[in-house]
Amino acid sequence: MSRIGVFDSGFGGLSVLYEAMQRLPGQDFIYYADRVHVPYGEKSQEQLLEYVQQVVDFLINQNVDAIVIACNTATSVAVASLREQYTLPIIGMEPAVKKALDLYGDKKVLVTATPITVRGDKMKLLVDRVDKHHLVDLVALPGLVHFAEREQFDKETVVPYLQETLQDRDLTAYSSLVLGCTHFNYFKDSFRDILPEQMALVDGNAGTISQLIRKLGTQIESTGEGRTVYYDSGKLCEGEKREKIDRYLERVKRMREIS
Ligand code: DGL
Repeated sequence: MSRIGVFDSGFGGLSVLYEAMQRLPGQDFIYYADRVHVPYGEKSQEQLLEYVQQVVDFLINQNVDAIVIACNTATSVAVASLREQYTLPIIGMEPAVKKALDLYGDKKVLVTATPITVRGDKMKLLVDRVDKHHLVDLVALPGLVHFAEREQFDKETVVPYLQETLQDRDLTAYSSLVLGCTHFNYFKDSFRDILPEQMALVDGNAGTISQLIRKLGTQIESTGEGRTVYYDSGKLCEGEKREKIDRYLERVKRMREIS
């Protein structure tokens, strides 16, 4: 049986954790939300390296067998240096650009992410590698991270923000929209309201957990109770904080039904 650490700057990574719990029900999970430092997407690379290091050290002290960085931004900045330092499997996330091009590459693809991910070298390398026909456009949607952290999911708030940010784009030219930040999974209902029907929503959650399963190998054949504990910036979530997490997980479950 394995003990798997999953972390994000905040609540976005719960969408990745949910996928993992569905597919690996007999494993233990520790979820860490680094909420004192959210939003990662608007910090400097140096700050992020420091924050991520602290979270990874915390998880390693909890004896995890593997770590999932349920955050595209943290992966973009820190995954290479973490893999140099540690021997345990570290599974990162990157916006599912390749998946979108493979599935819907007959038309343009709109990739959404945080400002750091959009500007990062890792994104440039990814696009250079997979976007042979120059079909990819990038857009940062930092406002969605703020809405998600405030549990503000109502369409009255979210839809105008999306409309304004995307107003200069001809959305009928796109085949799909990539949710390149784990927080964006909470807003599939609002995206669906403003996107033309032909635009598919694509995320990288399933691919990330498939990679985790490959890395853990035979370790997951033995199963246990399947317990999950949650930490908010180093403090165990209990009582009201735990109830709040359950509300987020409930929303993750509902948003998963929307494609
Ligand atoms: N959830 C994170 C991601 O996937 C970043 C959100 C933030 O800006 O903190 O990129």
